[in-house]
Amino acid sequence: MLIHAPRPGAAARAVHWAALARAQADGWVRDIGVSNFGVAHLRALPGPTPAINQIELHPWCQQREIVQYCREHGIALQAYCPLVRADPKRLEDPVVVDIAKKHGKGATHVLLRWSLQKGYIPLPKSVTPSRIRSNTELYDFELDAEDMERLDALDEGAAGACSWNPVDTP
Ligand SMILES: NC(=O)c1ccc[n+]([C@@H]2O[C@H](COP(=O)([O-])OP(=O)(O)OC[C@H]3O[C@@H](n4cnc5c(N)ncnc54)[C@H](OP(=O)(O)O)[C@@H]3O)[C@@H](O)[C@H]2O)c1
Repeated sequence: MLIHAPRPGAAARAVHWAALARAQADGWVRDIGVSNFGVAHLRALPGPTPAINQIELHPWCQQREIVQYCREHGIALQAYCPLVRADPKRLEDPVVVDIAKKHGKGATHVLLRWSLQKGYIPLPKSVTPSRIRSNTELYDFELDAEDMERLDALDEGAAGACSWNPVDTP
């Protein structure tokens, strides 16, 4: 069970987290985590350490400081909007198209494979059965170091986000 976002502020975050910690201690929920938490929010949380931080993560929005903090503290990273909401501008990015062609795969496969190889847990959403199937076809190819470097170089920071991404909320 996750807290959806750091809003509406520090006092609410502390109360929410204490309630989740109690629910976990009492056996109502197995794992507890957060979503959209930036480093300052994570640092300020009293124990226990969240199992997961679910944040927007894809090559154009790499949230490097949050990723580093989570890795250092054993917090799993769930990547939301891993397909950048299928924005044609992103799926047709020449770097992505080039890498997809090289491996005989689609642009969405490249994005999901990048996410998996980063060690993230990508959460692609689709209501289309053929796409849901396609989004699982990720284990018959591997991005090499050069592919990963080219995708890493697409980072636009917060400006690359396609959703609300409230990680900097006070
Ligand atoms: N914690 C948060 O604050 C937060 C914020 C945003 C999202 N999320 C969660 O993250 C998950 C994914 O986010 P999202 O839905 O915003 O973005 P997304 O997964 O990046 O993109 C979803 C879009 O991609 C399309 N799509 C899926 N697979 C495709 C494929 N193989 N080829 C072409 N298009 C494809 C879908 O179309 P169709 O559905 O029409 O097939 C849909 O329009 C959701 O479960 C959502 O709840 C969490």
